Amino acid sequence: MTQHDRLLIIDFGSQVTQLIARRLRELNVYCEIHPYNRVDDAFLAAFKPKAIIFSGGPASVFADGAPMPPASAFTAGVPILGICYGQQVMMHVLGGKVERGHGTAEFGRAYVSPTALTHPILAGWFPPEDGPLSREQVWMSHGDHVSEIAPGFAVYGTSPNAPFAITADPSRHFYAVQFHPEVHHTPKGAQLYENFVKLAGFKGDWTMGAYREEAIAKIRAQVGDQKVICGLSGGVDSSVAAVLIHEAIGDQLTCVFVDHGLLRLGEAEQVVTMFRDHYQMPLIHADESALFLGALEGVSDPEVKRKTIGRLFIDVFQKHATAVGGAKFLAQGTLYPDVIESVSFSGGPSVTIKSHHNVGGLPEKMGLKLVEPLRELFKDEVRALGHELGLPPAFIGRHPFPGPGLAIRCPGEITTEKLDILRRADAVYIDQIRKYGLYDEIWQAFAAILPMKTVGVMGDGRTYDYALALRAVTSVDGMTADYYPFTHEFLGETATRIINEVNGINRVFYDCTSKPPGTIELE
Ligand code: XMP
Repeated sequence: MTQHDRLLIIDFGSQVTQLIARRLRELNVYCEIHPYNRVDDAFLAAFKPKAIIFSGGPASVFADGAPMPPASAFTAGVPILGICYGQQVMMHVLGGKVERGHGTAEFGRAYVSPTALTHPILAGWFPPEDGPLSREQVWMSHGDHVSEIAPGFAVYGTSPNAPFAITADPSRHFYAVQFHPEVHHTPKGAQLYENFVKLAGFKGDWTMGAYREEAIAKIRAQVGDQKVICGLSGGVDSSVAAVLIHEAIGDQLTCVFVDHGLLRLGEAEQVVTMFRDHYQMPLIHADESALFLGALEGVSDPEVKRKTIGRLFIDVFQKHATAVGGAKFLAQGTLYPDVIESVSFSGGPSVTIKSHHNVGGLPEKMGLKLVEPLRELFKDEVRALGHELGLPPAFIGRHPFPGPGLAIRCPGEITTEKLDILRRADAVYIDQIRKYGLYDEIWQAFAAILPMKTVGVMGDGRTYDYALALRAVTSVDGMTADYYPFTHEFLGETATRIINEVNGINRVFYDCTSKPPGTIELE
């Protein structure tokens, strides 16, 4: 358990609860999200939060079995911030009134104006130079609303549809707002969180430097003198995990890099050079491309491809891991978003869009215990830790690359010829993006070779070659994405370069689909 000041976020099921945690982590505040139905008095007593935040949520306080925080939250003597549903719950429990929507529901942008009262929770809000018309943009998303505040509370901000937009009981350090300060559409929301944690006495002691030291001590304590194996994909998460564990236990760690023959141009060499030569880590480079490509021959169904790769990956990893001899632990780059238990109101199973490839099920099969040193971190924190550990910036900033690799960028049947063309075309595309200085602005970019040939003319001759799709998206977490708006100059120049430099391509398309309705990868 971390020794830092801890903030507890009680999740009532809002779509944006994770953003609260991100805003707090940006302030060097350690926080955890837990669903309301797991947080009872005993949990709270054990967690010992220095402050609590109630998230928003889709429920109504009037509903049967409406989600509630444990009673001891209000008597623990710690500051509380309630957001949207969190505000309604506070008022409902503490003696105020909540009313049904009926024409007062608000969704989207709204403007909050100050009242005659001021409080440090609003430091930086309503700057006096804005004069009497001072107001701040906020993001609202509520059906029910508070119609009467609880005893002890006063109003510090109002909006046309939310007379109790900002409320506080300064003596108990209870704060409650109707809007969502965690989203970007509330431009001064981060400031509000900063004010709240300052008032709660947080020291801002959650830094990657401190985390590195603690994580190393924890790994040593967990592993002792046993051996650890780690599947290295060349992605940021497994690389940072490997470097961190290597720093903790040195040669007790062996990495297994499974080359399934579906990597990008020069990728296997880069990974092996960096980890074996630069970090001097024991590394097994398992070149299993013949096995994978053999099994994928004639396969064109995306799910069959994914499942075949996933199954072979586990077999191959297991084979090479056994060779390490007597390893008791498996290291994984699991991140915090994978760990957060989400609140499900529908209760139904969600639809599987794609079978994601990971090493799930492997630890039990092999009788291994897990080492997951990144379990408490968000992706941007993993990158910061990578910097802290001295990984090259160009490596840390690399776009995500899926486990099944180029297989899912080659719709239809996979052949070595198509993979070879795709590798070279992708390299030209990424080179163009770097040349234009756009790499870091784009969340993920890649080429995909389409399962069709089209007619073209080059020189005086007819060509009949493959068509290529270019994809580039902006995103925060890969859950939703928008296509990147390249200039025509960029697209034209890139298409020309690819067709000139890569034999086998005579036509280039740019994919303008957002997610949803598309997905980022083509399969
Ligand atoms: P989609 O295509 O589902 O992709 O919109 C979202 C993000 O996930 C990556 N991706 C994967 N990553 N194993 C992975 O490790 C997989 O099986 C996998 N499939 C998709 C994809 O590259 C994008 O960043």
